[in-house]
Amino acid sequence: MPPPVSGCLLLLDVPKILFRALLSVHGLHFPLEETVVLIGGINAGAAYNGTENSTTTIYPLSADEEFSFILTEILALANGGGTATSEVLRAASQILPGDFESWYNEFNWLGMRIHDLATQAKSATSKREALFRASSYYRFSSFFLTGDSSDPRLYDTFEKSLEDFHEAISLLPIPGELYSVSGPSYHIPGYFFKANAGNATKLPTIVVGSGYDAAQEDSWHALGKEATDRGYNFVTYEGPGQPTVRRKQKAGFIPEWWDVVTPVVDYLSQRDDVDMNNLALIGLSFGGQLAPRAASREHRFKAVFSIDGLVDMQAAVLDKFPDELTTLFKSSNASFFDKVVSSALDQPDTSTLFKWFTSQGLWAFNTTSYYDWLSQLGKFALTQELVNNISAYGWVGKGEDDDLVGGQEDVLARYYNASGRRDATFQLFPMNLGAGLHCQLGAEPYLAQAAFDWLDGIVSI
Ligand SMILES: *[C@@H]1O[C@H](CO)[C@@H](O)[C@H](O)[C@H]1NC(C)=O
Ligand SMILES: *[C@@H]1O[C@H](CO)[C@@H](O)[C@H](O)[C@H]1NC(C)=O
Ligand SMILES: *[C@@H]1O[C@H](CO)[C@@H](O)[C@H](O)[C@H]1NC(C)=O
Ligand SMILES: *[C@@H]1O[C@H](CO)[C@@H](O)[C@H](O)[C@H]1NC(C)=O
Ligand SMILES: *[C@@H]1O[C@H](CO)[C@@H](O)[C@H](O)[C@H]1NC(C)=O
Ligand SMILES: *[C@@H]1O[C@H](CO)[C@@H](O)[C@H](O)[C@H]1NC(C)=O
Ligand SMILES: *[C@@H]1O[C@H](CO)[C@@H](O)[C@H](O)[C@H]1NC(C)=O
Repeated sequence: MPPPVSGCLLLLDVPKILFRALLSVHGLHFPLEETVVLIGGINAGAAYNGTENSTTTIYPLSADEEFSFILTEILALANGGGTATSEVLRAASQILPGDFESWYNEFNWLGMRIHDLATQAKSATSKREALFRASSYYRFSSFFLTGDSSDPRLYDTFEKSLEDFHEAISLLPIPGELYSVSGPSYHIPGYFFKANAGNATKLPTIVVGSGYDAAQEDSWHALGKEATDRGYNFVTYEGPGQPTVRRKQKAGFIPEWWDVVTPVVDYLSQRDDVDMNNLALIGLSFGGQLAPRAASREHRFKAVFSIDGLVDMQAAVLDKFPDELTTLFKSSNASFFDKVVSSALDQPDTSTLFKWFTSQGLWAFNTTSYYDWLSQLGKFALTQELVNNISAYGWVGKGEDDDLVGGQEDVLARYYNASGRRDATFQLFPMNLGAGLHCQLGAEPYLAQAAFDWLDGIVSI
């Protein structure tokens, strides 16, 4: 079974759920009979089981597979000072599998306690490190609460997370800066982390965007220090649908992602410390689809990364649905499709992944209809024609264990190779080095080595 995907992240695998309730929904005859099952469950991983080189890479951190995956994501932030391993493992041991309240309580509690540690710190370094961790725990406490957009905890704990993060970056040796630029009908918040304290030198600059659910603050811990240590300025941004913009502006995802990225590039062009000839754009997870979209119209990037490669998340989701549900979706009967998904969600054995993935969809696309959400997702597809418009060098990653998108990494590489411009650089990350998960979760140093060593070569061209 493939691992689930999210966090850095998008999440494509939809869990197995019984659709027996459909048979009785308002007396409608739905051709699914009891046996129909939606989508494979996720094997979040297991300990060594006697099979040499088994395809499972990660130890389960919860009996609930989706909880286990998100816990792995939170644990991975420890590599960049965003969390601490035993703090996460202790919280994991206390969380009731599949219980969203339990998840919220543990992480909110941990956030408060680590925030307390920050207030007791005697040095700026101690304070900064504790604030970064408190920020991460607050941020992840509301991860599973997006099903009710009126839940005040979605906003309160996130606000605390932002406050702690902002104070933490002000305590970095070279303080991180906040910036905000305007798009057509929304504001784009971001961070700028300078690689060098002076302004005189224009440096190559990496711009990172996350995906379906992850916050830009995570990216600093995942890749930020890796980038600045190598002499790259590190810039993040969030567009409509992403955590801060969704919360503060109620704005859902838009397919015109160039309208999000171009204002950021305009802003960078006004700075005196950015080498505009050496800009790179990184997209993480669903961002791996968003970044090439942006680069198809915004041509000031020299390189564009898809970590990992993705061309059509809607197709990947439909591929995981049972045929009957896909047929129903394609019949465009929106009200019935919504009814079917709702009734599936009412089933007691519905998996956390399915609950979270669908509710996150409504939240991130600012809609109340599952049909509308999934339809909108289709408008983000990358096509050959669109990739033909990309002038940047393309880099496409794939985690060996991450087969959720059914080989779409190769499809994206093929689009580049057939574009008549430049071949893609394709990077496979092996599971036997722990790098096989989606977005190389937990193996960020290897990801950074592969991606940034390659970028060094592009910058020198
Ligand atoms: C398992 O992986 C190791 C390290 O990559 C390799 O040397 C070995 O041949 C593999 N074993 C099998 C049975 O594939
Ligand atoms: C161990 O896990 C692999 C999947 O990675 C599975 O194919 C195999 O059957 C398992 N072996 C045992 C002894 O459970
Ligand atoms: C360097 O650039 C930043 C951002 O543009 C600016 O806030 C700061 O004042 C500059 N510092 C110097 C010494 O010019
Ligand atoms: C998001 O949805 C709400 C409720 O339908 C609506 O009032 C609001 O205008 C939407 N936000 C945007 C930015 O379109
Ligand atoms: C949608 O499907 C339901 C159940 O088959 C049916 O009753 C309804 O008429 C359909 N609506 C449309 C607009 O086709
Ligand atoms: C390619 O770029 C041109 C110019 O920006 C644009 O008009 C066209 O729609 C783009 N094609 C695709 C398929 O995105
Ligand atoms: C695309 O081209 C690169 C470089 O020539 C090659 O490594 C890769 O295998 C190609 N990918 C596909 C899917 O054709």
